[in-house]
Amino acid sequence: MTEPTNSTASTPNNRDDIRALRDRALADNRPADWFDPLYVAADGDQNQIPWALEGAHPALKSWISERSLTDIFQIPKAKALVIGCGLGDDAEAIAQIGFQVTAFDVSPCAVGWCQERFERSQVNYCTANLLNLDPHWYGRFDLVFECRTLQALPLSVRDRAIDAVVAPVAPGGRLVVVTHTRPTEAEPDGPPWPLSPAELDRFTQQHPLELAWERELASPEGSPRRCLEFVRSGSS
Ligand SMILES: C[S@@+](CC[C@H](N)C(=O)[O-])C[C@H]1O[C@@H](n2cnc3c(N)ncnc32)[C@H](O)[C@@H]1O
Repeated sequence: MTEPTNSTASTPNNRDDIRALRDRALADNRPADWFDPLYVAADGDQNQIPWALEGAHPALKSWISERSLTDIFQIPKAKALVIGCGLGDDAEAIAQIGFQVTAFDVSPCAVGWCQERFERSQVNYCTANLLNLDPHWYGRFDLVFECRTLQALPLSVRDRAIDAVVAPVAPGGRLVVVTHTRPTEAEPDGPPWPLSPAELDRFTQQHPLELAWERELASPEGSPRRCLEFVRSGSS
């Protein structure tokens, strides 16, 4: 996530407004509560969403093109869960390659926006909070895709958020994480809060996951951007 560069003082999501929303939510220990007001204030204008891209994230595009997905997954039966789906482009790209996709975001406004943008979509868009996931989802998805949501949540909930991202992965399933990383454990001045080496280790040290594939992507903003694919032990 980057700070917005394309808004002005007269637009609803200018840099100061976003900071104020975010700071209030963080001070009140409600780290996910500043997203919905931001989407609401954008009022349907994608240029007001700091992380909005034209289409799917480049990391997802390279994962799709570089991996032999039909050897790994039983497409079209395979089920995918997209975490913090934002405006829905990644969920749509995953549905287009044949997955049955559920995609959720904590922001009801973002979810409604996805449903409007992709009126005929096969994706099941819903509102849910990663930090309070329905246990019915645990171990149910062949693919869990998370892009830039972990790094958007502060370190105070980092371990909880990582554990929540892993929980829906089925035995034998895959977890794909796209995130900025930082070189040390020192607390960064977020958001975003890139993942540290110890936080990345948590995936494999606290969970039955192994790293299956990794790519580092060019990062115009400095800290490295990585796409990591983990496989969960067991068979589905
Ligand atoms: C930086 S944006 C990234 C959006 C999208 N994944 C992308 O890469 O374009 C983070 C997204 O996660 C959502 N989010 C933040 N905290 C969340 C939570 N606790 N549960 C579900 N979604 C959350 C936000 O509403 C926002 O859409």
